[in-house]
Amino acid sequence: MRDSRETFVNHAFVTGYPVKHSRSPLIHGYWLKTFGIPGSYVAHEVTPNDFPRFMKALKDGTAGFCGGNVTIPHKEAAFRLADRPDERAAELGAANTLWLEDGAICATNTDGLGFVANLDERAGGWDRIASAVILGAGGASRAVIQAVRDRGVATIHVVNRTEARARELAHRFGAAVRAQPMAALSEVMAGAGLFVNTTSLGMDGEPAPEIDFSPMATDAVITDIVYVPLKTPLLRQAEAQGFRIVDGLGMLLHQAVPGFEKWFGRRPAVDERLRRIIIDDM
Ligand code: ATR
Repeated sequence: MRDSRETFVNHAFVTGYPVKHSRSPLIHGYWLKTFGIPGSYVAHEVTPNDFPRFMKALKDGTAGFCGGNVTIPHKEAAFRLADRPDERAAELGAANTLWLEDGAICATNTDGLGFVANLDERAGGWDRIASAVILGAGGASRAVIQAVRDRGVATIHVVNRTEARARELAHRFGAAVRAQPMAALSEVMAGAGLFVNTTSLGMDGEPAPEIDFSPMATDAVITDIVYVPLKTPLLRQAEAQGFRIVDGLGMLLHQAVPGFEKWFGRRPAVDERLRRIIIDDM
């Protein structure tokens, strides 16, 4: 018997506004080809105004998709409009991965999973630390804080230009998370085992932040969720000071894994060829 949904059962999307910069079609396209799955993954631009209508069409099947990714500025709306957000998305108030189950839109957030998977791959043992320092308190920072906390790191210092935003996150994520003013940066870096930049500082055209990493533990890992350029000014500084560095590209690649598995039924690998495809596109 033909499944009435057969024509779109293997079609997924990434939506955002704008969405043309998204590298997700390259990632999922590579995996679809690798597995020989006759499906598609396309960029589908939707304005904030049209997003509720898009979610409705996703749910009733008229959009023709089995699920997809959601990026800026729709992550919060995706969480709110989903029928079944999981705990991770609920705590963050934002979703980046949607799929249909029994006619309901399910939602999760895989950014934090991508973050820790990248560190696990490139800096194994990174989580055997007493404290971490996270710079920034925006949407990306939340996912990183949640993931680092869930790995059992006892103290997570959130340092942000606008301290009130850091305080809001400390309140949201519980006792392990402490808000700090910028002026306390070097103090909280003392002996810390992980430093994460979640701000746009150091992106193309942005002035590089001047950070002295020397107070950190000698085996500390410094990472940046910005991946253009691959080696951000901040990572260069950390490397010059002799620290282990991990670039942010792996977070992008690993956050895509759970979605692909949900929509297409196979668990894909993040391999060097995929990394190269994205780097060549930068
Ligand atoms: P995202 O969702 O990508 O995390 P966001 O919510 O706009 O983006 O958050 C951006 C983060 O970068 C914030 O922590 C922001 O600090 P403020 O909360 O003080 O705005 C930080 N940021 C951006 N530009 C910055 C700059 N020039 N100096 C210091 N922090 C900066």
